[in-house]
Amino acid sequence: MSNQSPLAAIGLDTFFNEYWQKKPLFIRNAVDVSALPLEANELAGFSCEEEIASRIITGTWEQANFAVEHGPIAEDRYDSIGDRDWTLLVQDLDKFMPEAADFLARFDFLPAWRIDDLMMSFAAQGGSVGPHTDEYDVFLIQMEGKRRWQIAEQFNPELIEGLDIKVLKHFSAEQQWVCEPGDLLYLPPNVAHYGLALEPCMTASVGLRETSVADLLDDLANHWAEVNQPPRYRDPDLKANSDPWLMDDQAVERFRALLNRVVQAPDREFKTWLGSALSRYRLANTLLHDQPVAADDYDPQQAQSLGELLQQYPLVCRQHAARLQWLDLGDKALLCANGETFTTSHEQARRICQSATLEAQDCSNHALVSFLLNSGAFVLSRA
Ligand code: SIN
Ligand code: CO
Repeated sequence: MSNQSPLAAIGLDTFFNEYWQKKPLFIRNAVDVSALPLEANELAGFSCEEEIASRIITGTWEQANFAVEHGPIAEDRYDSIGDRDWTLLVQDLDKFMPEAADFLARFDFLPAWRIDDLMMSFAAQGGSVGPHTDEYDVFLIQMEGKRRWQIAEQFNPELIEGLDIKVLKHFSAEQQWVCEPGDLLYLPPNVAHYGLALEPCMTASVGLRETSVADLLDDLANHWAEVNQPPRYRDPDLKANSDPWLMDDQAVERFRALLNRVVQAPDREFKTWLGSALSRYRLANTLLHDQPVAADDYDPQQAQSLGELLQQYPLVCRQHAARLQWLDLGDKALLCANGETFTTSHEQARRICQSATLEAQDCSNHALVSFLLNSGAFVLSRA
């Protein structure tokens, strides 16, 4: 079953037509979890590292006493933490653990740009983060031990006040399952869920990205701030007005038209901004563990030519944390890497996005290699 799609039991068409962003789905024994062996101690080790986002959540819903400790966690914290009622959550495992990246690749029935990360949690018996909702889709995969998941599509949204995390005050389960290794629960956004560790257990979450209008407009604002002479409000049709304090409907419409002009930019311009916005990523330029070391050796300003460097470091390797995607520009493709864009052919864009190591035919294109190195999506390596 190792390379089988996690959704093989129902098929992708049924999944997208009936469940995706519509309703929860539970599949018993959907995933072979042996491909991602991870000890609780290893996960705890990751939580002690500066560059890895992690949290410990202690407490129980009954006592309404959840508290969060943000990473990096001090190693000796685990000496005193006890064996009940806590959860450790570590994000972005796929960015620094190649086995986790391979595991996440089983979800390649979804567009890569829609996936945020693979998060892993370890919970001591009784551990939970309380009943809550998330604003994004999630696939929860039981990796080890038993966890009871309860869910509700109808619920009172009131939260417990004064906690570090958002936890529902009232929760009554509509469905529940005791999940064992390999079981998968898919939840669309805003379904209340409550996972309680019945014994020490580990759960992987494949989290999706649901880009908010606020984030998009923020990026768009930065983009326009960099444009030379961005369009401005103008009103050559202004007429004499009896009330100087009135902002009239013509002014409002001129603003609407100004904003429409920005949003309805020509196709290529809009795609270039959107592709770069969505490939910008919090970790994109962070070199995480086990990376080839030569990234710093490449400085485009330096006298040493890229050709010489490629003789010393013949491998151009993809960073695990890189965000790559491509958009169709008709005759060309727009390759997006960590917020930067490069116009190339469809074949080359497709090949680069799939490559762990660049092929010789791509290495010989120095403009492309420079782009990939400058974006931080690829690094040079000797072996
Ligand atoms: C967990 O793994 O404990 C929490 C995952 C979630 O509820 O989103
Ligand atoms: Co959740």
